[in-house]
Amino acid sequence: GRRITIRDLQAAKDAGERWATLTAYDALTAGVFDGAGIPVLLVGDSAGNVVLGHATTLPVTVDELVSMSAAVVRGTRRSLVVADLPFGSYQAGPAQALETAARFLKEAQVHAVKFEGGTQVVPQVHALVEAGVPVMGHLGLTPQSVNQLGGFRVQGRGDDGERLLDAAVALEEAGAFAVVLEAVPADLAERVSKTLRIPTVGIGAGAGTDAQVLVWQDMAGLSPDPVPRFVKRYADLRGVLDSAARAYAADVASGSFPTVEQAYG
Ligand code: KIV
Ligand code: NA
Repeated sequence: GRRITIRDLQAAKDAGERWATLTAYDALTAGVFDGAGIPVLLVGDSAGNVVLGHATTLPVTVDELVSMSAAVVRGTRRSLVVADLPFGSYQAGPAQALETAARFLKEAQVHAVKFEGGTQVVPQVHALVEAGVPVMGHLGLTPQSVNQLGGFRVQGRGDDGERLLDAAVALEEAGAFAVVLEAVPADLAERVSKTLRIPTVGIGAGAGTDAQVLVWQDMAGLSPDPVPRFVKRYADLRGVLDSAARAYAADVASGSFPTVEQAYG
């Protein structure tokens, strides 16, 4: 079958169908999610945290994310692959954003890009869409602004909610095909989702969005405690890997691995 397109995602919203997104950073894992029918995979700059071990997403480079994005595209057949633009690679203006997005499309062959921000990035959204690059917006808790926000905290309470709604409308009018709503009150996310024609993708935004996204290591229970309140763990990969590593080490120590079964004669 063919790849999912942004038209399929719009058709899903128009039909009232919800869909799931996961992050992916490597070919093998992406292939599993592709096979499981996840329509959209996001090569998030959350790679800074869960792959590279940084405390924030700020240190992530374009080279790092291009490399991971290329692996995810190579490992998939059906999923639409969206790459995050790292901090500092788009804020300077439309020309910089286009230059960065072009690297992701040419070197990794991703199908869309995502970057954080509201009205201040509208010129970038417009320029990329004009150039034929689908753009996903990202509002609410925008981790690249953690120092300005004063921590990883819920956004869009009170008057900020109206500003967020206005920003979402501005991103849609600039041509974005979807918008992530991260860590915002559920009633605000639902209001934004009903106001916009394009799909909303929630994370920590309640049940009223058109789609959901989770960092895959959180979803599969590989991330250590504590995980945010909005995470649901669908597996205990941490426990599975811990047991496997211990059993392997014990077998090597006792001499029960390898046996003749694993040896060349
Ligand atoms: O980097 C990321 O994984 C993200 C999602 C959580 C939306 O931006
Ligand atoms: Na991100």
